[in-house]
Amino acid sequence: MTEAFVRLEGRATCLIVDCRSEAPTILYWGRRLPLEVDPALFSLQGVRQEAPCSPAATPPLALTPLIGSGFPGRPGLSAHRDGQGWATWTAITAINRLDPATVEIESEDAAHGIGLIHRLHLAGDVLRMRTTLINQGHAPLRVEACDAPALPVPEAVTDWTLFEGRWSGELQTRRVPRAMGAVARENRRGRTSHDAFPAILGEVGPCGEQAGEVFGMQLAWSGNHRLWAETLSDGRAYVQLGELFLPGECELAPGARYTSPDLVCAWSDAGRSGLARAFHAHVRARPQHERLRAKPRPVHYNTWEAVYFDHDPAALMALAGKAAAVGIERFVLDDGWFLGRRDDTAGLGDWIVDPTIYPHGLGPLVDHVRGLDMEFGLWVEPEMVNPDSDLFRAHPEWVLGTPPAPQLRFRNQLVLDFGQAAVREHLFARIDALLREHAISYLKWDMNRDISHPGGADGRAGAHAHVLGLYEVLARLRAAHPAVEIESCSAGGGRTDFGILDFTDRVWTSDTNDALDRLTIQRGLSTFVPAELMGAHVGPADCHITGRRVSMATRVATALFGHFGVEADLNAMDDAERAELAAGIALHKRHRALIHSGDLYRLDRPESEIAFGIVSEDKQEAMFSYTQIIEPRGYFAPPLRLDGLDARARYRVTLVWPGSGYPASPLFAALAEGAIFSGAALMAAGLQPPRCKPQAGFLLHLVRVD
Ligand code: GLA
Repeated sequence: MTEAFVRLEGRATCLIVDCRSEAPTILYWGRRLPLEVDPALFSLQGVRQEAPCSPAATPPLALTPLIGSGFPGRPGLSAHRDGQGWATWTAITAINRLDPATVEIESEDAAHGIGLIHRLHLAGDVLRMRTTLINQGHAPLRVEACDAPALPVPEAVTDWTLFEGRWSGELQTRRVPRAMGAVARENRRGRTSHDAFPAILGEVGPCGEQAGEVFGMQLAWSGNHRLWAETLSDGRAYVQLGELFLPGECELAPGARYTSPDLVCAWSDAGRSGLARAFHAHVRARPQHERLRAKPRPVHYNTWEAVYFDHDPAALMALAGKAAAVGIERFVLDDGWFLGRRDDTAGLGDWIVDPTIYPHGLGPLVDHVRGLDMEFGLWVEPEMVNPDSDLFRAHPEWVLGTPPAPQLRFRNQLVLDFGQAAVREHLFARIDALLREHAISYLKWDMNRDISHPGGADGRAGAHAHVLGLYEVLARLRAAHPAVEIESCSAGGGRTDFGILDFTDRVWTSDTNDALDRLTIQRGLSTFVPAELMGAHVGPADCHITGRRVSMATRVATALFGHFGVEADLNAMDDAERAELAAGIALHKRHRALIHSGDLYRLDRPESEIAFGIVSEDKQEAMFSYTQIIEPRGYFAPPLRLDGLDARARYRVTLVWPGSGYPASPLFAALAEGAIFSGAALMAAGLQPPRCKPQAGFLLHLVRVD
């Protein structure tokens, strides 16, 4: 006999799984219930009568919804042996409590030789669930889909929010009403992608940034995926995400297993900000986060938008000098340093310092940078190869492809097959050598094309193997060089999911450094990723991508709430601009301990503005940001009602980054000196913003006084 119900406790949530029938089924996930709630009675409350023209008993919406149970929605498992044994129908065989937060439920379809293990882990308010499929039969099992466990959402959910976008326009949100039928997204780009982020929110309307009930789900996977959120005609709704397999990609030999990526779920009744805080707590609880906490996140300088491919050691050393002078702490040499890399047509794959550009190697530049008291970081793109490279000439069989179909041209580069051990070994050895030869403290690991033709050397689909191979190489590098930080970049923010975050310490949020676009992109990403992992740089006055001109004040104010950096030609700035930048960097350094550890409160504002704050966990201190993006409709913006403060406390509120673009108001003149208000009044009545011009704003710092 196994337990009838499994219950896991979160901080403000709980999960109850019904294990009485043939397949484990989530009975409840959401606001924590008293321990006295009897799950059997709870389940009785939901018993339905037989509906006309319907099955006599409702097939369960199980963790893996099964074809064999007659489930009318999307099955969580689709597998067969030469067309036989496809109607899986299981029975629970064991329930193993691994620790108070983790349970594994084993089920079996003895007739068809299929085993399933569902692993559920609830910590804080984040639930992680995965499915393991075991081929217990004597013949190979062809798997078309094996999703992470399905998550039912209550009928109170009125809207889905999806994350979509493009290069330089990542993580835009779109809300659609929940209606009968499915909302679906497929990603076949081989990497997480810019346009189909593997996450969805289910919101109980009206849900805003600050209030309302919301469920959030993300698949921790950096490759092809399928997202499915369906409302059945019987009223039940659920979210299901899993890997998307290409034809024949998943075939299990007898005894072999496949484990789905984790579905990472959070719940909040404090709006989307509350959900973000739950996800942030989860990310911050990663063991590898400890070392990020141990030292302030160094301010970056990245050479890309300053020099592009035009590398000259003397000029770079001069640039490093200017970088150090404005307060930079880590100098990152971007694309263009390796063999034959004068533009984007050649060189990828040859991870050897180009002697024609660096006749004495990278050593002198690294030493110079370190002599200026900065760390040195390096850009690499190890998964890629240019056909014009020594590596490709030596190993054309190492690339993914599906001959005779032509490769799709994409930034003149092809994808190396990380499913091949020899490829992984070679790339590990090259990057490992670079890290041994030079005092490099940070790698910007880039990935600049879709994996559009993911055929391996054996002709089989290799997208899945590529992602696992990538994870393996990253894990090996981290083990060999535990002090080196790795950033996940993929043509900007094309790979910022929870899967890659297991192996990396920062994500490059987007290639656009246009501060106004960044405000929206960073808001989208901040649903999942806390500020200390979110690369955010001050770009040039004229944004290279949008051509928009944005003031230094607003560029600083936007980058300030991430892992701060600068990505602009310091030679092109005049002294006044460099001084303003230096002041911005100093401001970030003063407040980064708060920004990189505090709780995020995004504020509900009219569409013409973006405002948010970060409040320290003990509510002693806070920083709020306000930006007017376009002209408001009326003469005045609504009062800025702060959030997350202690209502009983009083705070000294100081204007710390005046920016420009608004006339002095009496209130803001007082704030420049620092004025004391009660937390309750700041949250209930707020502060009246001045009449800002578009693209202007301000930053307020709050310190509790009693
Ligand atoms: C990608 C990255 C950029 C830069 C270039 C270099 O586009 O997102 O930041 O590193 O590659 O080629």
